[in-house]
Amino acid sequence: MFAAALYAAALVTLYPSAALAQYLLGVGIGDITGPVTETNMMGYADTAQTDTGLHMRQRSRAFIVAESANPSNRVLLINSDIAMGDSGIRRAIVAKLSAQFPGVYSDTNIGLVGTHQHAGVGGYLENLLPQLTSLGFVRETYDAIVAGTVKAAVDAHNSLAEGSLSYGTTDILQGNINRSPSAYLANPADERAKYDHDQDKTMTVVKLKGASGDRGLLSFFPVHGTSLYQNNTLVSSDNKGMAAYLYENYVEPNKAPGNTSFVAGFIQANVGDTSPNTLGAYCNSPGKPWDGQQCEFYHSTCGNNTQECHGRGPGFQVSDFKSNYMIGDYQFQGAKTIMEQPSLNSIAGSVRSVHVYINMSNYTFTLPNGTTTHTCKPAMGYGFAGGTTDGPGLFDFKQGTTSGNAFWDIVKGAVTPEPSAEQKACHAPKPILLNTGEATFPYDWQPSIVNIQMFRMGQLVVLLVPGEFTTMAGRRLREAIKAKLVAQGILGDDATVVIAGPSNTYSHYITTREEYGVQRYEGASTIYGPSTLDAFIDIYSNLVSYLGDAAASPSSGTPPPDLTQNPLSLRTGVLWDNTPSGKSFGQVLTGPEASYTKGSTVSVKFQAATPRNNLRLERTFLTVDQQVNGNWVPYRTDSHPSTKYRWARTNGLLGHSEVTITWDIESDAPSGTYRVSYYGDSKSWTGSISAFSGSTSSFTVA
Ligand SMILES: *[C@@H]1O[C@H](CO)[C@@H](O)[C@H](O)[C@H]1NC(C)=O
Ligand SMILES: *[C@@H]1O[C@H](CO)[C@@H](O)[C@H](O)[C@H]1NC(C)=O
Ligand SMILES: *[C@@H]1O[C@H](CO)[C@@H](O)[C@H](O)[C@H]1NC(C)=O
Ligand SMILES: *[C@@H]1O[C@H](CO)[C@@H](O)[C@H](O)[C@H]1NC(C)=O
Ligand SMILES: *[C@@H]1O[C@H](CO)[C@@H](O)[C@H](O)[C@H]1NC(C)=O
Ligand SMILES: *[C@@H]1O[C@H](CO)[C@@H](O)[C@H](O)[C@H]1NC(C)=O
Repeated sequence: MFAAALYAAALVTLYPSAALAQYLLGVGIGDITGPVTETNMMGYADTAQTDTGLHMRQRSRAFIVAESANPSNRVLLINSDIAMGDSGIRRAIVAKLSAQFPGVYSDTNIGLVGTHQHAGVGGYLENLLPQLTSLGFVRETYDAIVAGTVKAAVDAHNSLAEGSLSYGTTDILQGNINRSPSAYLANPADERAKYDHDQDKTMTVVKLKGASGDRGLLSFFPVHGTSLYQNNTLVSSDNKGMAAYLYENYVEPNKAPGNTSFVAGFIQANVGDTSPNTLGAYCNSPGKPWDGQQCEFYHSTCGNNTQECHGRGPGFQVSDFKSNYMIGDYQFQGAKTIMEQPSLNSIAGSVRSVHVYINMSNYTFTLPNGTTTHTCKPAMGYGFAGGTTDGPGLFDFKQGTTSGNAFWDIVKGAVTPEPSAEQKACHAPKPILLNTGEATFPYDWQPSIVNIQMFRMGQLVVLLVPGEFTTMAGRRLREAIKAKLVAQGILGDDATVVIAGPSNTYSHYITTREEYGVQRYEGASTIYGPSTLDAFIDIYSNLVSYLGDAAASPSSGTPPPDLTQNPLSLRTGVLWDNTPSGKSFGQVLTGPEASYTKGSTVSVKFQAATPRNNLRLERTFLTVDQQVNGNWVPYRTDSHPSTKYRWARTNGLLGHSEVTITWDIESDAPSGTYRVSYYGDSKSWTGSISAFSGSTSSFTVA
């Protein structure tokens, strides 16, 4: 009896029921992978980066936190393996969820954050500029993102159960570097002296714990999703998706990727000037005196040329896939360090959300020094065409895009109008290259109206920002909001403010006024002019009172126009699939060897059809099967990092294609007998689609 009492007392200490009962928590995950072939990829916006297969599937991960006592106070935070949140997909996701759960989910409490990865399927943004390289809008990509995200959110909703939240931090020193250090140096010396690094190195992790153990995590850490280079054409999830895979696989090693019940949200933060290419930027200039030297500091050039300057990731000697694994692993290890600490700070208090639409074209406000100023209609400066050391850059259509691109040929007649004198003065000292804010043909090139949103979970406040804040811009915003929370008595000194972005709308970059003056890529891409950051600080600050315990949310206001109803779309559909005579779909063209050692690579080839006929969402285009008691049991899928699926058209007119599947055999793979299976869907000349599959002969792994 004494022992039982002690046990009960220990339980109360370990699981204080009040804390456990404070929140309702839900987690879910959904497959959002669009067409993995013949589609432009999103991020580098390079017409040549058209996808040819699959490395890892893209996922949306959904997290719901509600007050147990009053569950209508809830937030739904979605972390999506895409380059950025956008108004178009967000509108569709909000519409579907608010129709399915009226009064429960709305514009106010649904937040959509992109991991800012650059290896995903493109064509889903609704403004014109990001569509230029993808030949316009790609409905298949948009539909896949919306459907998989809604699935993740519904699963999260259906899994709501009592739980507790806690959080901690750790520093990840190797995880990022600043790719525009010369712009950072423009910030005041006394401000820079407050920080040890020119990047934020601290990862914040929130643990979601249920009655029977940990259910998931939310981590916040800034590093660009550019580990995989611009010449990669396999759809993947870059370093944040890798970190999520590594964590989920660590918790549930025997579940297929995307099929775990534990959900790991690796959320992007003030990513603007961060790079995962941590070895620095070097000249790739064979035969020139500066080959192999570091790029020039102020302009990131090699003999005055930007195209030869490339950042190198930590796995540079091996490959960008190795670098991607390493930067993902640093984040996984950092999150694990926090999650496995014996005690974390517990989170307690109200759940609140606030959301408004703001037109940033002429936002007029008073600066802290008393001067009244305003933002400008969007415009991009010359510096943005130079790109970054991570790649020639987002929307860099300086070369290659103006010729041989039918889409560009249509719109170029209406290339942005000459900026007005007022527009030029507003953006100074930025010289305007693209006057996007005064270009409305055939529809808006860049957004005027952005989503502004904040979530509060107890003493943690998440700022969902509509773009890429640089390191110092993010610090200024976080500090201003924390000061306001404390000054208004909403939270105490333990208030923790984190940034999540690019979220909800993509309004490109947000630098400090000093960095803007330097006009590197990030400053040139700060689209609402020099006062952009100060305007955002003003806007978020004015909304802080809505995070108070008793506050009611304001109305969201006027949303941006829906541009997805009749978008330009020039990408061609699938005509048909066929096989050469004597061959059949799924037939093995190159089989495996009889035996392999661990650490080596299996490579096999099949007669194929285009994977665009059926995206096989939540399923797989391949399995590596292991023979267990005489049965074939899937051991690896198309979303394990060790497998790659490469598709090639071998005859466009006749509709022939082939698929090469590789498996890098893990060192810890069980010895035994295996085969590779391929799953496809072919389109006949009448348009009907039929599933088929094929399997290789067996081979041994020892
Ligand atoms: C991709 O680019 C990197 C960096 O320039 C280079 O090292 C690598 O060989 C390229 N890969 C391919 C497949 O061309
Ligand atoms: C995912 O899990 C479900 C239920 O356990 C199972 O039916 C399904 O086959 C799994 N999917 C994959 C790809 O392993
Ligand atoms: C780069 O440009 C500067 C200024 O135009 C010039 O002085 C210099 O010689 C150029 N360097 C090379 C390597 O071409
Ligand atoms: C945003 O504001 C600008 C200037 O104030 C105005 O011209 C424009 O129509 C507004 N945009 C929308 C979508 O309301
Ligand atoms: C911006 O708004 C101010 C007043 O708030 C107005 O005086 C000015 O003309 C506006 N500018 C533009 C470009 O609409
Ligand atoms: C206030 O700050 C802005 C931006 O730095 C500057 O342009 C303006 O001159 C300042 N006003 C005063 C009164 O110092």
